[in-house]
Amino acid sequence: MVTVRNYDIPALRKLDVAHHLPAQSSYGLQVELGGSRIITHAKGSTIHDGDGHAILDAMAGLWCVNVGYGRPELVEVAARQMTELPFYNTFFRTATVPPIELAAKVAGLLGGNLQHVFFNNSGSESNDTVFRLVRTYWALKGEPKRTIFISRHNAYHGSTVASASLGGMDFMHVQGGLPIPGIEHVMQPYPFGDGFGEDPAAFATRAAQAIEDRILAVGPENVAAFIGEPVQGAGGVIIPPPGYWQRVEAICRKYGILLVSDEVICGFGRLGEWFGFQHFGIRPDIVSMAKGLSSGYLPISATGVSSDIVEVLRASGEEFVHGYTYSGHPVSAAVALRNIQIIEDEHLVERTREDSGPYLASALADRLSPHPLVGEARSLGLIGAVEIVAEPGTNRRFGRGGQAAAIVRDACIARGLMVRAVRDSIVMSPPLVITPAEIDQLVDTIAVTLDTCADQLAALR
Ligand SMILES: Cc1ncc(COP(=O)(O)O)c(C=O)c1O
Repeated sequence: MVTVRNYDIPALRKLDVAHHLPAQSSYGLQVELGGSRIITHAKGSTIHDGDGHAILDAMAGLWCVNVGYGRPELVEVAARQMTELPFYNTFFRTATVPPIELAAKVAGLLGGNLQHVFFNNSGSESNDTVFRLVRTYWALKGEPKRTIFISRHNAYHGSTVASASLGGMDFMHVQGGLPIPGIEHVMQPYPFGDGFGEDPAAFATRAAQAIEDRILAVGPENVAAFIGEPVQGAGGVIIPPPGYWQRVEAICRKYGILLVSDEVICGFGRLGEWFGFQHFGIRPDIVSMAKGLSSGYLPISATGVSSDIVEVLRASGEEFVHGYTYSGHPVSAAVALRNIQIIEDEHLVERTREDSGPYLASALADRLSPHPLVGEARSLGLIGAVEIVAEPGTNRRFGRGGQAAAIVRDACIARGLMVRAVRDSIVMSPPLVITPAEIDQLVDTIAVTLDTCADQLAALR
């Protein structure tokens, strides 16, 4: 590991407050707290901050550092590519070597007729690409009225105008006059929140039926696509009940609507398959990927597109007038390709499915499910959530929505565990290289933290 530089952290915090506007942040709170927590270095599943704390990163950065931190292979491949060719674009019938190789590799992982890949730089941009591609496809196919997207409440598809509109986060829509027209949001398949006590099969039917009802309400001839995350991540690790995705797929097929799987979190092994749609046994027409594609080492995202869609674009003779300067950036693509090779060589997908995923699930079941402050502890592969409740056996929340989880999250971080709070739950999505001992540490830290926070939580009642 390289020698970590000696930083003047207090001075950096002052500069942070004076000049830096961090993403998705309260700038008032940034001032109040005297600046951000500054992460200086990391290795494996552990990050280190400038104040000397070692923190187990149960969020894999931001649901993305699948192969863990400190991978010299990725540094080497980036340096080699930067030396050979740091940049050339993919506009105007040119390409470079890495995006071609990466597209072929990703197409192989996607399988079936998902044989084409468009590159972007972020999950949000991928979903912007989806937005324009889907509408362009229908127009070129001679069905220009098909413009409406159906999505779910509490979905997260990104932060650009189109992707935040596709998302179903009301608090994001409030800012900037979103959503843009042409997007319909229906109920999410959230058993603990919206289907508590309901038979899972009946709830799956009800949640899928909401999609069909909306299609019929707006007119199937006007609907372009349905978009969903296989497991909603930022919305609080919402794992749909068995049968939900099969029903959704059948509804899309019934009305000839494109099915878009947003795999920005679920892709590249998170659920114990290369993609979430493979876990749920469905076949989307379009797939958004980012995060685990490069394990966050460099920004890159990809939009997988079916041959049927590409055939329509090809036959039209029209240009798809969409793309970014850095679409298929050679250095990012080279790093992504090597990252995929690490996932393959170390069998991280299989390990998540057969070992670490089940290990996390049983640790949550044994040590957190029985806790009186836990309403549900759920996981799938290496993504999970712990629902904090005011009364055991119920889904009754503490007052002041979201405060309970924020208290527990902050206390976890103080104990050396990085987790996130989503409403009244603690969510986790650790690197796929996390060890059993680290999973024990993750789960035990949440259990002890809940104990120590009990009085503070009780005061919220
Ligand atoms: C499912 C999903 N889609 C899209 C995005 C947006 O990705 P980005 O932040 O890279 O723009 C995210 C980010 O968390 C996500 O979880």
